[in-house]
Amino acid sequence: MKIVSIYNNKGGEGKSTVSVGLTEFLAANRKKKVLLIDLDGQASSSCALLGHLSVKNAIREQRTSVELMQQILHQRKEIEDIEPFLTWRPATDSKRAPLAEIAVMVPDGSKAFELEEQMKWNRDHSLFLKYLKPALKSFDYVLIDMPGNLQKTQVIAMNGMVMSDHVVVPVKPTHISLNALPNTFEMIEYVQTLTGNGSPSNIGILRNFSDKRRQQYQTNFPGIESAAANGELPPLFENSWTPASIFETATDDRQEFRTLYSRFGSGSSSTYKACRLVAKELDERCSGDFKAGKSKRIRKNLWERLGLA
Ligand SMILES: Nc1ncnc2c1ncn2[C@@H]1O[C@H](COP(=O)(O)OP(=O)(O)OP(=O)(O)O)[C@@H](O)[C@H]1O
Ligand SMILES: [Mg+2]
Repeated sequence: MKIVSIYNNKGGEGKSTVSVGLTEFLAANRKKKVLLIDLDGQASSSCALLGHLSVKNAIREQRTSVELMQQILHQRKEIEDIEPFLTWRPATDSKRAPLAEIAVMVPDGSKAFELEEQMKWNRDHSLFLKYLKPALKSFDYVLIDMPGNLQKTQVIAMNGMVMSDHVVVPVKPTHISLNALPNTFEMIEYVQTLTGNGSPSNIGILRNFSDKRRQQYQTNFPGIESAAANGELPPLFENSWTPASIFETATDDRQEFRTLYSRFGSGSSSTYKACRLVAKELDERCSGDFKAGKSKRIRKNLWERLGLA
């Protein structure tokens, strides 16, 4: 079992879209048992995978990460049964079209606020690591859709990062996206100091919205690419996600997505291929023989050199 956070501190870089894409492709294409933990109160990826109504029901029935944290706080022992906190997307849709079965843990944005208040005097970031992680071992992958603008004081989301083995950072090729990267890496390094064992390892930067023919790409990405090639930054995923209208609608829960194809394009389309190849790369990188090795600190002057300090 591997836990992978999808994180970029900036909003709108594609965390939720990539979380949904990787979840679908790891489950349907690579036949893995996948749980998506949505730790962003906006619930975009939960709604995308389950639909709005199921998310509302999960919140009403208290099947959320907030209730799970409450149970951990009261019992202070390993969770024995994770099922009461999960919502499953069935293996077929209403028209019996095949879909991969996926487990989702839904957030509860309004109750999270109260819980954060309640935990303000005891910000323990290792509760999920101690009491939840052992209960997740029946899954091949647990992906965590992280919120943007993460604060060290946010207990639930920080707990998610601390229990992660790896982190994937989607980045768009805009100057403001790159400007926000130092904060993202500082936060990952901070979490690594909390765990004390280099975990979560930064397993890759995923170039999102990337089209080599566009000037924006040519202006902004080469510096990042050469820094990654020199080992000054974590490695890039070799494959990237292009700007595509089909990605734009992938988290729109008002659309009906009956198959992977309807969501991400036909098997020969570039969007479908991008999803398939990035999921494959992630699977290979998580399998152990990939040398992430980039938990080392990013050199201070790198950001200045890239004009991002
Ligand atoms: N490759 C892409 N092509 C086209 N649109 C994209 C692509 N990736 C993401 N988007 C769009 O960009 C917007 C932001 O994406 P998304 O919601 O996944 O980002 P996020 O990092 O999760 O944001 P937040 O921090 O608000 O949670 C969405 O409207 C999404 O549809
Ligand atoms: Mg999001």
